[in-house]
Amino acid sequence: MENNQEVLLKVENLCQYFGFTKAVDDVSFDVKKGEVFGLVGESGCGKTTTGRSIIKLYDITSGNIYFKGTRIGAGTRSYQVAIRDAKEKMKTASPEECAELKAFIADQKKQIKRAKYDQKNCDKEYARKQTEAVKEKYLPLIDAANGADKAAIKAEYKNELRKAKKERLVTKIQMIFQDPSASLDPRMTVKEIISEGLVIKGERDKKVLEEKVYEMLELVGLVREHAGRYQHEFSGGQRQRIGIARSVIMQPEMIIADEPVSALDVSIQAQVINLLNDLRRELGLTILFIAHDLSVVKYFSDRIGVMYFGKMVELASSDELFKNPLHPYTRSLLSAIPLPDPEYEKNRQRIVYNPLAEHDYSVDKPTMREVSPGHFVMCNDAEYQKYLEILK
Ligand SMILES: Nc1ncnc2c1ncn2[C@@H]1O[C@H](COP(=O)(O)OP(=O)(O)O)[C@@H](O)[C@H]1O
Ligand SMILES: [Mg+2]
Repeated sequence: MENNQEVLLKVENLCQYFGFTKAVDDVSFDVKKGEVFGLVGESGCGKTTTGRSIIKLYDITSGNIYFKGTRIGAGTRSYQVAIRDAKEKMKTASPEECAELKAFIADQKKQIKRAKYDQKNCDKEYARKQTEAVKEKYLPLIDAANGADKAAIKAEYKNELRKAKKERLVTKIQMIFQDPSASLDPRMTVKEIISEGLVIKGERDKKVLEEKVYEMLELVGLVREHAGRYQHEFSGGQRQRIGIARSVIMQPEMIIADEPVSALDVSIQAQVINLLNDLRRELGLTILFIAHDLSVVKYFSDRIGVMYFGKMVELASSDELFKNPLHPYTRSLLSAIPLPDPEYEKNRQRIVYNPLAEHDYSVDKPTMREVSPGHFVMCNDAEYQKYLEILK
């Protein structure tokens, strides 16, 4: 990865609860522009929920999601809990303390209002900015043109303006799903599937749509003759290519690939990963790559976050994570990767992670701590000291 440190996506204390299920619980990470960030963990640990929360398929419970510096997702539960706690404290507090707590509560209420506003209005704000940009570009051109030119530019301006009004910031993040056949409508032709997003965005020009579809098909390694066919006529790998084309046509800046190769034959997996890697380079995409084991993300990711039961337990650069895995869960994931080395395989011992045996969190509670620059581990004081010792 180039030395580009611009943060494209920032996930801050994300919580997504479904009733009593804490599918994602206080997860923070950021994804830098141009990088591949791997999100890894066993089935049910909250990876998909994290992805779906980022693209606003849920109203998140708590925390913030920023994309390109704009808050696109904001939950309110943490503020509500803070208010409840403060009210509880007020029952026994001195008058001075009460005044302070009151001010605190007022501030939390303000935060709730702001969170609700951003959650609801970030797309509107974005559309407004896009509309302004179109006006700024076209109005002087229209002024300067005359005759037939003027009419043509005016028509183009109207078309662009209509599309700009429908712009949503969150379409700059596209998600690719695990099972391509389940996410592609069997009654739609490939052309209809791939162009659907653009149609929703307000593109009406049939010629433009068709050309775009052809361009996308070729970009993902299919051919234009495929446009009129249906998804059942394709292999799993080809279907995933269609899924990728459908995302890329939206000109996303970021792709969330949710186990995009898990349902595919091993022989096909590398092809699809290579395609994603090519697209990343050609289109300057940023990728959040979700997988349930580390072998898939090893060579592809710049940084990796490991999730366990709704929590992020370790986060480091790919090299660092494989060189110095510290959290026992990460070590267990690593021990599950077979390597094409008979000697290693003979001695490879699978480590099973048993949280109750590994940690004593009864008094000394764990938090995410930085053990070396850019390497974070969920640990308590005692474990932190132990990890620093190991890294020495
Ligand atoms: N819409 C939902 N309603 C209720 N529970 C859900 C929902 N989506 C996911 N869950 C639960 O949240 C947890 C995390 O699920 P998920 O994010 O799909 O994990 P992963 O993608 O890592 O396999 C699981 O316990 C799952 O059953
Ligand atoms: Mg999943």
